[in-house]
Amino acid sequence: MRTVLITGGGSGIGAGLAAAFHGKGAQVIIAGRTRERLDAIAARHPSMVVEVFDVAEAEQVAAFAERVAARWPHLDTVVNNAAIQTLLDFHEAVDPELITREIDVNLKGLILVANAMLPLLRRQPKATLINVGSGLGYVPLVAAPVYSATKAAVHSFTISLRRQLANTPVSVVELIPPVVETDLHRGQTRKPPRAMKLEEFVKAAMAGLDAGHPEVRVGLAKILARGSRIAPRLFLNIVNKQKD
Ligand SMILES: NC(=O)c1ccc[n+]([C@@H]2O[C@H](COP(=O)([O-])OP(=O)(O)OC[C@H]3O[C@@H](n4cnc5c(N)ncnc54)[C@H](OP(=O)(O)O)[C@@H]3O)[C@@H](O)[C@H]2O)c1
Repeated sequence: MRTVLITGGGSGIGAGLAAAFHGKGAQVIIAGRTRERLDAIAARHPSMVVEVFDVAEAEQVAAFAERVAARWPHLDTVVNNAAIQTLLDFHEAVDPELITREIDVNLKGLILVANAMLPLLRRQPKATLINVGSGLGYVPLVAAPVYSATKAAVHSFTISLRRQLANTPVSVVELIPPVVETDLHRGQTRKPPRAMKLEEFVKAAMAGLDAGHPEVRVGLAKILARGSRIAPRLFLNIVNKQKD
């Protein structure tokens, strides 16, 4: 039986993937900062387990890794999914706390979780580390400059990690969503266009993961990946609805 940890499993894509892995018979551990949200998801899925910690806090991540190794020594899949998105306008000085928080959660947190869980993953006969990137890692949304930069960095980090771990039991995968209907954009006045339904996304993501692709690009993320290479300026304009 597969044992799967999903950070940010209390909502959106994380909760959708948690339900999908659970439906395939996996033991699923969902993690996040808000216990009530996690408990509500777990209540719908018997045997799903909740862990509360902040991915941006190194001590909390280390303590969590110790608990996991003791309780689920066969953990073989980690979905590094927790992230936040903030719209930031650099015309004015931005609150430094907003900048560091976004980098701490989306990039530092993802790297800390990978680093803390890899010793356990490496002990399994076969294991998978799934880092959740974004189509905005290829073509930035200029209104979310720090978020887009963290996702470009996640893409780069994942490539390096995959190469470093090439001769180990750990496969390193990047799951790259397009815009999906979740709470990520909560509180933003600008409604994201062309959002994919969560169920549709989860179905496509699980199919891509099952197929064993190292980079699972879903929906419009495929077009952004290609467009960023062949016509970067055009795609920057399309994503940001601007004209040159
Ligand atoms: N939705 C999209 O359009 C879209 C597009 C491309 C990529 N993505 C990526 O998909 C992933 C999931 O996002 P989503 O759309 O499902 O958004 P979401 O519903 O807001 O989920 C994010 C989850 O991360 C958790 N989280 C945030 N900060 C955390 C922290 N410091 N420590 C632990 N958990 C934390 C949140 O729970 P708590 O607040 O309770 O901790 C929440 O459950 C993210 O990596 C996002 O960048 C989303």
